[in-house]
Amino acid sequence: MARSKSQFICQECGAVHGKWSGKCSQCNSWNSITEETVTATPGAAGKARGSQINMHKLVGDTAPPPRISTGIPEVDRVLGGGLVPGSATLIGGDPGIGKSTLLLQTLCKMAVSGHEAAYFSGEESVEQIRMRGSRLGLATNDMPLGLATSTNAADITASLHTAQPVAVAVIDSIQTMFLPSIESSPGTVSQVRASAFELIRAAKSKGAAIIIVGHVTKDGAIAGPKVLEHMVDTVLHFEGDRSHHFRILRCIKNRFGPTDEIGVFEMKGSGLAEVTNPSELFLADRQENVSGAVVFAGLEGTRPILVEIQALVAPSTMANPRRNVVGWDQGRLSMLAAVLEARGGIPLSGRDIFLNVAGGVKITEPAADLAVAAALISSMSDLPCPRSCVVFGEVGLAAETRRVAHPDLRLKEAAKLGFDQAILPLAKAKDMTAPDGIALNYVADLGQLIAALGGLKDNSR
Ligand code: TYD
Ligand code: MG
Repeated sequence: MARSKSQFICQECGAVHGKWSGKCSQCNSWNSITEETVTATPGAAGKARGSQINMHKLVGDTAPPPRISTGIPEVDRVLGGGLVPGSATLIGGDPGIGKSTLLLQTLCKMAVSGHEAAYFSGEESVEQIRMRGSRLGLATNDMPLGLATSTNAADITASLHTAQPVAVAVIDSIQTMFLPSIESSPGTVSQVRASAFELIRAAKSKGAAIIIVGHVTKDGAIAGPKVLEHMVDTVLHFEGDRSHHFRILRCIKNRFGPTDEIGVFEMKGSGLAEVTNPSELFLADRQENVSGAVVFAGLEGTRPILVEIQALVAPSTMANPRRNVVGWDQGRLSMLAAVLEARGGIPLSGRDIFLNVAGGVKITEPAADLAVAAALISSMSDLPCPRSCVVFGEVGLAAETRRVAHPDLRLKEAAKLGFDQAILPLAKAKDMTAPDGIALNYVADLGQLIAALGGLKDNSR
């Protein structure tokens, strides 16, 4: 007979503890352990005898995975060329960022192009989804999309093969799903893990692509056990600042393609619109001749993106001057400020530094170092950086500049948007071919950067 026993499971990391405690000893999070009842069938593992497995050679006849286009090129790009039938995709993102909107738009596109599509929502009623559909202009009589509200994962798996096999199914969201055979409440680690396993197994056996929405914790990680991310083939993050109108779809893990592509969207009154040239959007509101603003030529995957980095250096009244960063890494800013002070003789320690990546973009590349340094120097001297100049490069602890990947792609994008000057680390000539019309200003260290920006004047006091 099946036997139930209690387990104490951390809802943050999924660690199992023998007894309750206020703090999880695995991930150090507080108040995350809850009691869950797990039903075990005794002896089930011992009874089944294993059988011999056939081994294969590493070489063989294997075709690349077939892909179905989602009808939205930006989504296809992030997935590596389209959805793979039978694959499981997890999409995470802050509440209200537009996950449900993006998935509804994607499903409708796919349904219209002849793929059987089903949207299972555990969060909203059919009326709410219909209202969103009509706002998006998708609620037409002949829209062949199947809509259902259910939180029972067992019912959903049973509905994946009705008259027509479902080609693509969306589960919105995994935290609302439950399996009746498991006693814990929806959203707990056991339920999330078991429901996801059931749904993915059923979808894979039917060859349906399944897209699962996952909530995120306040640190931005997908809520629930990490095992959810291990179970699926692809993990996507939908991010952006809710006060800004554009959103970025980023790939974190992809078993069928590269992980470094991003898709850029703009949230409009009528849904998410694709942005095919993000640099133009990010640079749209630039001001003329302000000090502390520098255009960084960044790269996301294979796609160059130009963004404006703004710095403000101001005298501080605090014992510990502020280092406020939006869109970049706080630790990296502290490092750069220390290098500028120790090696470049720029007195930053008594000053507040505010750094902002305009438009709410988040930059993770070390290639932004040189652009941030240029913005700090420009703000400190109150000398604007030339308006038609882009900057990129990594900075080391000895204040030397280091080369970064694909300078040619960055320069090409800059030339396309009318920039005529670039400040960059010295490169080997074979690494790149500079496009016509861009003057290259190589800098070997921060001293040369200061010279390239017109020298240093202490104008911040
Ligand atoms: P939603 O897709 O419900 O977010 P999530 O599923 O990630 O929680 O998006 C909700 C937000 O998007 C809501 O605040 C309103 C905004 N929105 C628009 O601006 N335009 C639109 O056409 C739609 C449908 C939503
Ligand atoms: Mg939603």
